[in-house]
Amino acid sequence: MKGKFGQKLKDAKLAVTFRDVILVPNWVEVEPKEIDLTTRATVNHKLNLPFISSPMDTVTEAEMAIALARLGGLGILHRNCSIEDQVKMAAQVRRAESLIIRDVITLSMTQTIGDAIDLMQKHQISGLPVVEGEKLVGLITGRDVRFAHRTLRVGDVMTKKLVTAKEGTTLEEAKDILHTNRIEKLPIVDDNGTLRGLITFRDIMLRGRFPNAARNQEGKLLCGAAVSPFDLERAKKLDKHVDVLVIDVAHFHNANVFRSTKNILKEIKADVVVGNIGTYKAAEDIVTKLERVAGIRVGIGSGSICTTSEVAKAGSPTLFAAAQVADALREHGVDIPIIADGGISGSGDIALALGAGSSTVMMGNLFARCKEAPGNLVAIGGRYYKQYRGMGSASAMARRYSMDRYSVPAKGISEGVEGWVPYKGEVATVVQELTDGLRAAMGYAGARNIPELWEKAEFAVMSSAGIEEAKPHDILLPGEA
Ligand code: XMP
Repeated sequence: MKGKFGQKLKDAKLAVTFRDVILVPNWVEVEPKEIDLTTRATVNHKLNLPFISSPMDTVTEAEMAIALARLGGLGILHRNCSIEDQVKMAAQVRRAESLIIRDVITLSMTQTIGDAIDLMQKHQISGLPVVEGEKLVGLITGRDVRFAHRTLRVGDVMTKKLVTAKEGTTLEEAKDILHTNRIEKLPIVDDNGTLRGLITFRDIMLRGRFPNAARNQEGKLLCGAAVSPFDLERAKKLDKHVDVLVIDVAHFHNANVFRSTKNILKEIKADVVVGNIGTYKAAEDIVTKLERVAGIRVGIGSGSICTTSEVAKAGSPTLFAAAQVADALREHGVDIPIIADGGISGSGDIALALGAGSSTVMMGNLFARCKEAPGNLVAIGGRYYKQYRGMGSASAMARRYSMDRYSVPAKGISEGVEGWVPYKGEVATVVQELTDGLRAAMGYAGARNIPELWEKAEFAVMSSAGIEEAKPHDILLPGEA
């Protein structure tokens, strides 16, 4: 025993984080605009940008998830709400756009034009196929109902001469058919005339407007949602609507959490991301004890709203966590994408996190600033801010659903704070700034793409004088005057 505690301190690892480190400039053969930022969010889902928004109730609801997926990233819907509300958000993302709509809203011939108008308004759509049983018999469009009386029968007003297409119609073919026939809706039917789906002009237009969008194989915007490891019912209900399920717990490396995650992994079809973890050993236990894990979320206590490290003096800074986990995965020959989560304050931090082996970064603070985030907009001292709060903060916990992440009732302390972040406008603007900065950083590192950054990134630890020098200095900045 003699000398053991002293030795432990001597052996202490250096848990470096974003502020301590810089990327060392490298030999460069690539220009920033040629850099490829495509990556994987999970084993089966690709992104066109390495950005994921945090499952927090002031960051990601349907509006943020739709906007971010259209830009090429991914939103993870928060779980601080009822199962029904979270499923509703996921369904909203699903319906936002797709090449073929599968859950088509239909009418029967005996319904009235009033019913048709109500359905169109409720779902904000402009046309409804009419079916008898499952067979397609007509189509009602906005034009058909405009001057028709509400009490008329659908069967008397609908268009009966229909242009349809078969399953397997490509985007280009659909475009051609819509254009040639001057129509906006193209029902997909099988050989028996059964309605199988619907292609709309609007969805095709949206594809053109968002060529970089992250989509699943069906052409729908990619969507993720968070669940507690102990909420199998929520996981099962969301599974039908999302591509990615994130097991959302502050400290995943825990026997009970592993046990119940096993059940979720058995029952769920979506790609499952587990986390958060921060150590080599936790990653090793995941790859040896759990099957079908499709992503690992890393970093404990680095979040801008976290007080975990302060309260508990336990944690693993995101950069340190990413490197530990990436090494464990490599050494076990396992290819699972890493999500670096917490503490990202700009594009430089993103480059560092990716350089340390992660495939994407998760951000709460930077996305909470955007118009699409659900937090309230407030004016303070003539400037605009948005509300942002930790999911372990007292007020978020008061909504009971996130209690199990930070176990406040048991410990009687909160592990998060709430406050305001400066309002930045649309998420597209924030993403553009981050993308430009990330390309610049990867340019300095000489990396053409993210896997090349894993190989080429070289880090240097800065002294505290260096950290000061790296900011603007010896100049009076506007606003400080
Ligand atoms: P940023 O730095 O982007 O971090 O604001 C977002 C991440 O922080 C985590 N998170 C919390 N951590 N107490 C914590 O210790 C909390 O109340 C809390 N809420 C969120 C989470 O991983 C998120 O993605």
